[in-house]
Parts: sequence; C-alpha cells; structure tokens
Amino acid sequence: MTLKTRAFAGLALWIACALARAQVPAIFEGADLALGERLIAQSQCVACHQRRVGGDGSAIYRPAGRISAAGALRGMVEQCNQELNLTLFPEEVTAISAVLNRDHYRFR
Ligand code: HEC
Repeated sequence: MTLKTRAFAGLALWIACALARAQVPAIFEGADLALGERLIAQSQCVACHQRRVGGDGSAIYRPAGRISAAGALRGMVEQCNQELNLTLFPEEVTAISAVLNRDHYRFR
C-alpha cells in the first residue's frame, strides 16, 4: 500500500465509524445521554436487575428478546417508570432508553 492509499483507507474507515455512530433511532435523536446515565444510576435499575440476574445486571437486557425495536424499548422503560412510581418526565424516559440502546440494544 502506498502512503496515499493508506491515508485514504484510514479516512474511509473514519467516515464509516462516524456514520455508524450517527445511526440513532429517530426517537432517541437529541436525547440527553448524560442525564440518562445519571437517572439509571439513581433509579435502582441496576441494583434490582442484579438481584434478578446477577453479574452487573446487564443480562436482563436482551436485545434478541421480546423487545425488538427502539419504540418498544422506550415503552418498556415507560412501563417501569409507572409501575415503580419513578415519576420520570417523558424526556427522562427517552434519555434512559437512549442510553440502554447505545449500550445494549443498538437498534437503528
Ligand atoms: C424492583 C426491581 C426493578 C427495578 C427497580 C427496575 N427493573 Fe427493569 N426489570 C425488572 C425485572 C424483574 C425485569 C425482567 C422482566 C421480565 O423479563 O419478565 C426487568 C426488565 C427490564 C427491561 C427489559 C429487558 C428486556 O430486554 O426484556 C428493561 C428495558 C428495564 N427493565 C429497564 C429498567 C430501567 C431503565 C429501570 C430504572 C429506571 C429499571 N428497569 C428498574 C426489575 C426492575
């Protein structure tokens, strides 16, 4: 490989990665990820899931399970919000769902 083709390959890879990162479901676009992370830490999500499945609790998130799309993921978090009386605002539910999607479900 010449220097030029190597530089080009690097650039192409960088663009591909940037595009992959940008592929966020429309409903999670502009979500406040930092807020979502904070809420997940504050809302006992992980502690309770760990009691169920052990480890770091993330085994509760099953991308190949019954949740099969971004909207369903958000719906599940909204359901937990209501059942557990977390009194989260809609944008907070979205923020949490966006973080779970980024880290576990990866819907596009
Ligand atoms: C009191 C315990 C408890 C708390 C607190 C809790 N969960 Fe859960 N969660 C569960 C249980 C139990 C399941 C599994 C239900 C099942 O599979 O039937 C679950 C499942 C889920 C799922 C679906 C996983 C999948 O792929 O099927 C999501 C998403 C989820 N929880 C998100 C959250 C979030 C976000 C929070 C915090 C805001 C939270 N949960 C707080 C008990 C809890």
